Amino acid sequence: MCLETSVGPLKMKNPLMLASGVLDMTRGSMERFREAGAIVTKSVGMGERKGYGNPSVVELEHGLLNAMGLPNPGVDEYLKEIEGIDVQKIVGSIFGKDEHEFARVAKKIEVAVDAIEMNMSCPHAGSYGAGFPTDKISDAVSAVKESVNIPVFVKLGMENIGRRARAAEEGGADAIVAINTVRAMSIDIETAVPILSNKVGGYSGPAIKPIGVRCVYELSEEVDIPIIGVGGITTAEDVIEYMMAGASAVQIGTGVYYRGEKIFEEISKELREWLEAHEYGRIKDVIGAARA
Ligand code: DHB
Repeated sequence: MCLETSVGPLKMKNPLMLASGVLDMTRGSMERFREAGAIVTKSVGMGERKGYGNPSVVELEHGLLNAMGLPNPGVDEYLKEIEGIDVQKIVGSIFGKDEHEFARVAKKIEVAVDAIEMNMSCPHAGSYGAGFPTDKISDAVSAVKESVNIPVFVKLGMENIGRRARAAEEGGADAIVAINTVRAMSIDIETAVPILSNKVGGYSGPAIKPIGVRCVYELSEEVDIPIIGVGGITTAEDVIEYMMAGASAVQIGTGVYYRGEKIFEEISKELREWLEAHEYGRIKDVIGAARA
């Protein structure tokens, strides 16, 4: 049973990628994910950022709520950390306040990564992420495309995703990553205080899976570039569902919290069994199967 897939020019031994922000800030923790087709590193910017105070993550009934605040050591320290890393493929997630910053960070990491993921969807970091203006997306993506010669993916959240994805495609993006966490909050009713120090955060996990599947399905009509599905995947069946909606690959983040680092090895095995039982020869044949 062949699990190989590709996202534009990026070829992977299986469609399972570690999503950005999960155990991916040190080389040691990243190398625990050698079974993943690729890993996406925690978003980096030009300079160091401390991030928000604690609590920055809380487990809710159907997922995790987090607001870390884009903590990262800055691009130069990041490059030292990943030097010589032993994983299948490495995708560098980057953020920037404008096209110039995005292009500078992309250029710096190009030598060390296999692809770039532009984070345009952190749901609570002002003009970074989801606040990045839709009318500037196309220029930012073309600036990054002009500064590097590796594939460039654009990660978008559920809000306004159709227009933002078309803008990314216009700028020359090689793929769309959909979706990010969903803007959300939780309040401790005994103290009447929001739980996260940032008050608002991003919700991930099983609760958001149907939203992600819907976005991937609709996007596959809206754009002609490949889509990487992400949001609430914890089982092989979830992977199949995203791929039937039109995803060429998927990312898993919160699923690692529920099933541990072995999730990639386990889901690969479960995928092979599922494909065999359902008489699919290759995972690639599942892509878009639910589309009319
Ligand atoms: C953070 C959260 C996100 O969902 C994201 O895309 C980027 C950063 C964070 O809080 O650091």
